[in-house]
Amino acid sequence: MRKLSVELRGVSKTFRADGRSVRSLDDISLRIEDGEFLTLIGPSGCGKSTLFNLIVGLLEPDKGDIYLEGEICQERIGRVSYMPQRDLLLPWRNILDNVIIPLELAGVPQEEARARAQSMLPLFGLEDFANSYPSALSGGMRQRAALQRTMLAEKKILLLDEPFGALDALTRRELQGWLLEVWRRFGQTVIFITHDVEEAIYLGDRVAVMSPRPGRIVKIVDVPLPRPRRQAMITEPIFSSLLAELLEALGVTI
Ligand SMILES: Nc1ncnc2c1ncn2[C@@H]1O[C@H](COP(=O)(O)OP(=O)(O)OP(=O)(O)O)[C@@H](O)[C@H]1O
Ligand SMILES: [Mg+2]
Repeated sequence: MRKLSVELRGVSKTFRADGRSVRSLDDISLRIEDGEFLTLIGPSGCGKSTLFNLIVGLLEPDKGDIYLEGEICQERIGRVSYMPQRDLLLPWRNILDNVIIPLELAGVPQEEARARAQSMLPLFGLEDFANSYPSALSGGMRQRAALQRTMLAEKKILLLDEPFGALDALTRRELQGWLLEVWRRFGQTVIFITHDVEEAIYLGDRVAVMSPRPGRIVKIVDVPLPRPRRQAMITEPIFSSLLAELLEALGVTI
C-alpha cells in the first residue's frame, strides 16, 4: 500500500450558535493515499465543506483526529492547498496579482512571484489575461485562475470544493480533462467535492458518498476505469453500473 496522505479517525463536528446546535459531521473515518484522487459526494448541507475546513485547520473537530502525511496534526494551517467553494478572487487585483497571493504569503518577493506565476499562465490558459481584472473574465477563466492560485501554494495535498459547480456542461468537461492533466503532471493528493455524480466517477480513483446531515461516510467505491480518462468512457457499462450504485447510495430512486 502507498503512504497515507490524509487520514481522519472518528471525526465529529457540531456547530453551536444562537442557542442552537447543528451536528454537521458524525464519526468520519477516511484514509486517502499519497497521490490519490478521491471525489466526495453528498447532499447539500451534509458537511462536505466543513470536512475541508477541518482538514485545512480552519476548524477543530469536537472528537477524533486528523493525520497529515502519517502524523497526527494539530497545526494544519498552511500544510494544504485549498480552493474554497467560492473563487474569492480579489476584484482590485489583476489575474497575475491574484494568483501570486500564496507565494506572497509565503514570503516570496513580488517580482519573483510574478515571474513564477507568469510562466505557468499558459498551462491554465490565462496567458493573454495576466493584466485583466476578475470582472472581465468568464466563469471558467475565473475558476482556472482560482485553481492556478491554489496550485501555486505548491502543497502536496489539494482540496477542491466544487471547483466546476457553477459552469456550463461543456466548459466543465473541458476543465475536467485539463485538471486531470495538471494532476498527472504534479501528482498531488486531491480531494474533490462535487454534486455531479458523473463528474465524481470520471475524475476519481475512488468516490466517497456522505449521508444527509449529520454527514457520515456511507459508501466508498473504487473506479476501475483506466487512466488517462476519456470522455467516451462515460458510455461504458462499468460507468453506468457505478452511477446506479452511487445514486442508490445517495438515496436517489432510479
Ligand atoms: N461556521 C459555521 N457555523 C455554524 N454552522 C455551520 C458553519 N459552517 C457550516 N455550518 C452548518 O453545518 C452544516 C454543513 O454545512 P456545509 O457547508 O459543510 O455543507 P455542504 O455539504 O458543504 O453543503 P453544500 O453542498 O450546500 O455546499 C450546515 O447545516 C451548515 O449550516
Ligand atoms: Mg459546501
